[in-house]
Amino acid sequence: PEANKDYSYEDCKATADWLLAQTDVRPTVGIVCGSGLGGLADMLKDQVAFNYKDIPNFPQSTVHGHAGRLVFGTLKGRPCVCMQGRFHLYEGYPIQKITLPMRIFKLLGVETVMLTNAAGGLNQDFKVGDIMIIKDHLNMPGFAGNNPLAGPNDDRFGVRFPCMSDAYDRELQQLAMDVGQELGYGDFLKEGVYCVLGGPSFETIAECRMLHKLGADAVGMSTAHEVIVARHCGMRVFALSLITNQAVMDYDSEEKANHEEVLQTGKQRAEQLERLVFTMVTKIEHN
Ligand code: 6GU
Repeated sequence: PEANKDYSYEDCKATADWLLAQTDVRPTVGIVCGSGLGGLADMLKDQVAFNYKDIPNFPQSTVHGHAGRLVFGTLKGRPCVCMQGRFHLYEGYPIQKITLPMRIFKLLGVETVMLTNAAGGLNQDFKVGDIMIIKDHLNMPGFAGNNPLAGPNDDRFGVRFPCMSDAYDRELQQLAMDVGQELGYGDFLKEGVYCVLGGPSFETIAECRMLHKLGADAVGMSTAHEVIVARHCGMRVFALSLITNQAVMDYDSEEKANHEEVLQTGKQRAEQLERLVFTMVTKIEHN
């Protein structure tokens, strides 16, 4: 019960109102940039940017490759807000704090959330550099009781027991496929199930094999908790993984997961991933 105490509806509202007082942008799309994928924020026009450390109630980003700015602006006239850098369980924050920005998005007026991340490929048909449209997730920390919605439920955000079978918006997945084809990304645009772990250590070989058997196509350390909180408060969700490395699945492999490889692949495919999200944003209809 203590976990939610510092992040009440009123706290989220205060943060949202503080932000709205300092920009004329009224975002309907909220974007979360994964490791090495912060370039999307730089594509916004008429930017108003805030360092996380200057935003009341906001956590700080501590990871190399994550900038730590909330950027308001427009993409082809569409008002957006973009997190350049996100928060992870392995930074030691309570899970409610990691997902707090989703509730702030909601109170800013965001209707659609688009999340990106860097992930390890478990699906043997995936190649490094593939972009995976997330169609579902396995929330492993949730299995162990670490769910961002644990604690008292505030009905102003959503119901006690939210449905997750429709977490990833089907129309947006189709739009991503269509836009991907249009942009000539057909060869490296895939779809699959994303599995979140707490990190920061990468998976053992046995863990990778287990996750693959359980139906995971990619593994990472983010996104799923944000999706749960975003769906709880009624926003549409779309998410993409950039496959930055192949998870090691056999004992003969000489490969070792490392953060530099993750960032390096991010750089190479980042522009195309950003183009995909950008183009989708220009095609999303809001009421
Ligand atoms: Cl291989 N594992 C996890 N947990 N996160 C990752 C990754 C692997 N590659 C990028 N992010």
